[in-house]
Amino acid sequence: MTEAPSASQVRVNRDRLWRTLMELKEIGGYADEATGLRGVRRLSLTDEDAQARRRVVAWMEEAGLQVRVDRIGNVYGSRAGSDPSLPCVLMGSHIDTVATGGAFDGTLGVLGGIEVIRTLNEHNVATRRTIEVGFFTEEEGVRFGTDMLGSAVTSGRLTLGYAFALADDHGATVAEELVRIGFDGDAHERRPVPYAYIECHIEQGPILAAAGVDIGIVTGVQSISWQRLDLRGEAAHAGTTPIEHRADAGLAAAIVIVEVRRMCDSGDFGRLRGTIGKFALQPSQTNVIPASASLTIDLRNPDDDAMTAAEAHLQAFIDTLPDRCGVTGTLHRMAKTAVVPFDVDVQKLLGDTADDLGLGYVATMSGAGHDAQEIAAICPTAMVFVAGEHGGISHTPREYSTPTACGNGIDVLANAIIRLANQ
Ligand code: GLV
Ligand code: MN
Ligand code: MN
Repeated sequence: MTEAPSASQVRVNRDRLWRTLMELKEIGGYADEATGLRGVRRLSLTDEDAQARRRVVAWMEEAGLQVRVDRIGNVYGSRAGSDPSLPCVLMGSHIDTVATGGAFDGTLGVLGGIEVIRTLNEHNVATRRTIEVGFFTEEEGVRFGTDMLGSAVTSGRLTLGYAFALADDHGATVAEELVRIGFDGDAHERRPVPYAYIECHIEQGPILAAAGVDIGIVTGVQSISWQRLDLRGEAAHAGTTPIEHRADAGLAAAIVIVEVRRMCDSGDFGRLRGTIGKFALQPSQTNVIPASASLTIDLRNPDDDAMTAAEAHLQAFIDTLPDRCGVTGTLHRMAKTAVVPFDVDVQKLLGDTADDLGLGYVATMSGAGHDAQEIAAICPTAMVFVAGEHGGISHTPREYSTPTACGNGIDVLANAIIRLANQ
């Protein structure tokens, strides 16, 4: 319900927030041929990411934050509270992007967090608890194959050794790249447990716009399964090999791709979403039957049992490929997370804060993965969503949220953080 805003709420500087979003977008900016728009390509631990990290650290320091970097390259800026013995309240997100990204995914929560600190400074707002703003390494998982990497190491779900050993397509490891860009910090990755964590993030979907509101209070994150499927057939001549004698890895890949879509359409696995986002054939020549294929399978499901059933079905289907087309398939686990429900008290506080600001909102589950799903394992956590334009489209340069929607989301973040920091 929308009420008249209460005068006791702080408001962030929307123009300043917007300027920082637009400035950061230029680091890793590129001309996207598919859309004709300027996109952002800032894969984790690349030179572009390093430049963006340095820019954000400079903004943190200008806002008076005490900055530290941990061993997986997560960065935290800290504003001291009046009682340093109390656990801090944490806000944040990520600044790495997919290879075809936009200006808002992740960055809103980080630059918004810094804007909250500037606003507190300007209004001389002191808090009991220390307030921290953080950004986590390799949230997207695009470069090293495991998403939510920095936050998962922080929560203890993944080990530092596992993360360090991950390599990109050219063999460069996380450990080497952290050193190369100078973000191999010395703070322990299992950070002091916060009192609470709030992440503000663009919705990346159509629910808020359909409801006619700028704000979503996020109830949790759905289950995510990432696997790589390697298919082995046999290369042979395209013109001379009889159809019935082929072991065509490309055909096997096509059969699997269609089956994943059929699984989603069938309703047998709840509200399953499946995506084959990476797909390569070898030896990749016009007149050679493909000997091998490699594809990624991204499954999402708001129900853990339905996800388990979907994965079991997929494995059983892949086991039928030798009979169907003479090709064998092996699945390799890249990442897997269960459904994560967010803390109901933090959700309520966010809803109350939105009410006090006179902002309408809806409660919604997140379709995308977020660092908050990892941090939820160590402290009470919830998220604020901000509506996007064009149906909330994201992971493309078409991603866009208005200055008003971003400002409204960060106003909710600011006032909720102040309340938590004084508990
Ligand atoms: C994060 O961007 C995801 O893939 O959900
Ligand atoms: Mn994100
Ligand atoms: Mn993303």
